Amino acid sequence: MYKDPMFKNKELNNKVIVVTGGGSGLGKAMTRYFLTLGAGVVITSRNLEKLQKTKEELQQETGGEILPVACDVRNYEKVEHVLAETLKHFGQVDGLVNNAAGNFISPTERLSSNAFDTIIDIVLKGSKNCTLAFGKHWIKEKQQTSTVLNIVTTYAWTGSGYVVPSATAKAGVLAMTRSLAVEWAKYGIRMNAIAPGPFPTKGAWDRLLPGDLKEKFDISKKVPLKRVGEHQELANLAAYLMSDYSAYINGEVITIDGGEWLQGAGEFNMLEKIPQQLWDQLETMIRAKKR
Ligand code: HXC
Ligand code: NAP
Repeated sequence: MYKDPMFKNKELNNKVIVVTGGGSGLGKAMTRYFLTLGAGVVITSRNLEKLQKTKEELQQETGGEILPVACDVRNYEKVEHVLAETLKHFGQVDGLVNNAAGNFISPTERLSSNAFDTIIDIVLKGSKNCTLAFGKHWIKEKQQTSTVLNIVTTYAWTGSGYVVPSATAKAGVLAMTRSLAVEWAKYGIRMNAIAPGPFPTKGAWDRLLPGDLKEKFDISKKVPLKRVGEHQELANLAAYLMSDYSAYINGEVITIDGGEWLQGAGEFNMLEKIPQQLWDQLETMIRAKKR
């Protein structure tokens, strides 16, 4: 059931959505579903060849209209170019998904200043560039409704060692989400975020679990539901947040991680490891302390 598409009709008909990093991984999964639901989709990233391949594959699969535009989100002029191409092709834009990201694991003291900047620039500056360019357009045009969806992570609020530039940048994106949700609501712009837990993609897994780390740290064991996420599950949530069904949801961050981050956070969650038969003994010991 959770692997199935959620909506039954063309719930995104007449909408045009820009997905950064839409040529691979979760961006591609969201793009596929938006197209299925009737949206026109612009996908953008640095690698035009990859975007063209994705366009051909998804166009054939869904029959939807998809426009690939090369853009490094770190460059504001390039982002403005994406907006211009979108308007030229589709005549309108209704939604933006800030999904493009860069990340790799490293002890922070091993990072050069440029390595740290690179991640901040893709994730935080890139999301800022797109949000500002599209927001200015919607405000200038007095568009009635539009929506921005930011893909963050659960460590945007907990922080995490070994991915410190990413955690720092995602925390900034989260702050931007909540800030603009209030400030720009008067312009009809909704601003929400999704915080995914582990959803295997080549881009993330090659950089976060290289070599045999995948086997050494079976990530599904960290999740109370004992599995990783399915791309369609995330696409379902994203489609809902981009659709008019979520019109009253603004400034929200929805976690989709099978309970993973809370498992790490709850003080006594390690007691999960206690075998059932030991609980009688433990209870007797605790009750004995009453007197
Ligand atoms: C240390 C590194 C490094 C590494 C690169 N650098 N890789 N430093 N360890 N493994 C340094 C370089 O030496 C350089 O610094 C600086 O970082 C920039 O590197 P470039 O290769 O020039 O950058 P660029 O070509 O822009 O590539 C960006 C990138 C790359 C982030 C480094 O990995 C990339 O393109 N990533 C995009 C896709 C991606 O990361 N997807 C994963 C998203 S997963 P110097 O000082 O030498 O110039 C995610 C959350 C997952 O975000 C959460 C899971 C639960
Ligand atoms: P991915 O396939 O590597 O996606 C990242 C995308 O960003 C790529 O398509 C990449 O395309 C694009 N990109 C990178 N740098 C860019 C730049 N400077 N300008 C424009 N585009 C750029 O990885 P993913 O797992 O699908 O990640 C998608 C999103 O989900 C990210 O925001 C990530 O932080 C988030 N997330 C993922 C997981 C997970 O478990 N997979 C968990 C939590 C959060 P090019 O290389 O062609 O530019």
